[in-house]
Amino acid sequence: MVEFQVINFDEWRQRMQPLWPWNTDWHWIPIINNPYGQIQYTGCEAFNRVIMFPVMCTVDGTPAAYTSVFNISDTHLRLRGVYTEPEFRGQGLVAPMLDWACNLFPEPWHTAIGYGRETSLDYFLKVWFGEVMPNYSSRRRYEHNAEDLSNGKPTVTLMRRKFRDIS
Ligand SMILES: CC(C)(COP(=O)(O)OP(=O)(O)OC[C@H]1O[C@@H](n2cnc3c(N)ncnc32)[C@H](O)[C@@H]1OP(=O)(O)O)[C@@H](O)C(=O)NCCC(=O)NCCS
Repeated sequence: MVEFQVINFDEWRQRMQPLWPWNTDWHWIPIINNPYGQIQYTGCEAFNRVIMFPVMCTVDGTPAAYTSVFNISDTHLRLRGVYTEPEFRGQGLVAPMLDWACNLFPEPWHTAIGYGRETSLDYFLKVWFGEVMPNYSSRRRYEHNAEDLSNGKPTVTLMRRKFRDIS
């Protein structure tokens, strides 16, 4: 039986470790432009309204796949991180898990975005995200470790899906 649940962040982060091995190595502070084109102070005030759900999918009680979802505006969500345990891959767990995660947010949220890496972009566009964000060019991904550097110039591409028609 396939089931989905929200788990606490620490457990989720530990289970997602294979996807983001640089867990504790913070050496980059992001600069954000506000809508007026000014550099935005990125203190916690900007994120006070963010609610994040770390999500786990189990199969017959065994942890099998994970994702997370949080609000980035009053209508849009960001899906971040999708990881299926190797022994549970190819079972179609990802699409229903992303549906379940997005439906944790009620109306008026209706659209989810996410970044796809080069290696998984085709997969995500086929399996769940319907389209690349219009007018969006792929951008170079932050090179955080030796693996990325050895891959040349890895890029990420913004994808989106409208998961709910709202009245
Ligand atoms: C990418 C990933 C999440 C797919 O999980 P999954 O549970 O196997 O996915 P599904 O069961 O929904 O889909 C499996 C299908 O997608 C295909 N697929 C899997 N990864 C793919 C990829 N990177 N590119 C293209 N197709 C891919 C499989 O061949 C399979 O096809 P089939 O049904 O025709 O046999 C999983 O391989 C994974 O966790 N990888 C490591 C982490 C990662 O790369 N995450 C994405 C970056 S955020």
